[in-house]
Amino acid sequence: MGWDLYGLLGITKGEKQRMHQQHGRNYRFFDAPVGLLFTLDKGLEQGSLLDYGMFLQSVMLAARGRGLHTCPQAAFLKYHNVISDVLNIPAEQMLVCGMSLGYADPVAIENTLVTMREPVSVFAVFHHNNETCP
Ligand SMILES: Cc1cc2nc3c(=O)[nH]c(=O)nc-3n(C[C@H](O)[C@H](O)[C@H](O)COP(=O)(O)O)c2cc1C
Repeated sequence: MGWDLYGLLGITKGEKQRMHQQHGRNYRFFDAPVGLLFTLDKGLEQGSLLDYGMFLQSVMLAARGRGLHTCPQAAFLKYHNVISDVLNIPAEQMLVCGMSLGYADPVAIENTLVTMREPVSVFAVFHHNNETCP
């Protein structure tokens, strides 16, 4: 998917500087008016990550319901130490995700990317009366 995006932007494999620049836009929240950083108490169990994923999805759906767009961003995670220092995030909290919130620019070439969808048969098996359905 990353290569599809770079392809749209005309960035080819060797162009490290341009890739770096494009990736760097993450850290300006792609010029969105609102940047969100999500943290979770480190003491919580693995199941809480599942809860948290659903919470993030709900934030994204709620945004769509209000005509806004989002981009969830794992790109912030590798800088969790810097971010925690700058924002005084307590040591018992871990950074889970960043997110841009605003109105997508429909003219921006990167927003014309259509990502592939797996057919349902790749990730689900249907059973009916003890028989597997095709
Ligand atoms: C958990 C997660 C982390 C992501 N992290 C980033 C990121 O760091 N930077 C980015 O530009 N997009 C990120 N994305 C967005 C994807 O690149 C993609 O644009 C988005 O998932 C829309 O495609 P989809 O509808 O196929 O999911 C992330 C998406 C998810 C679900």
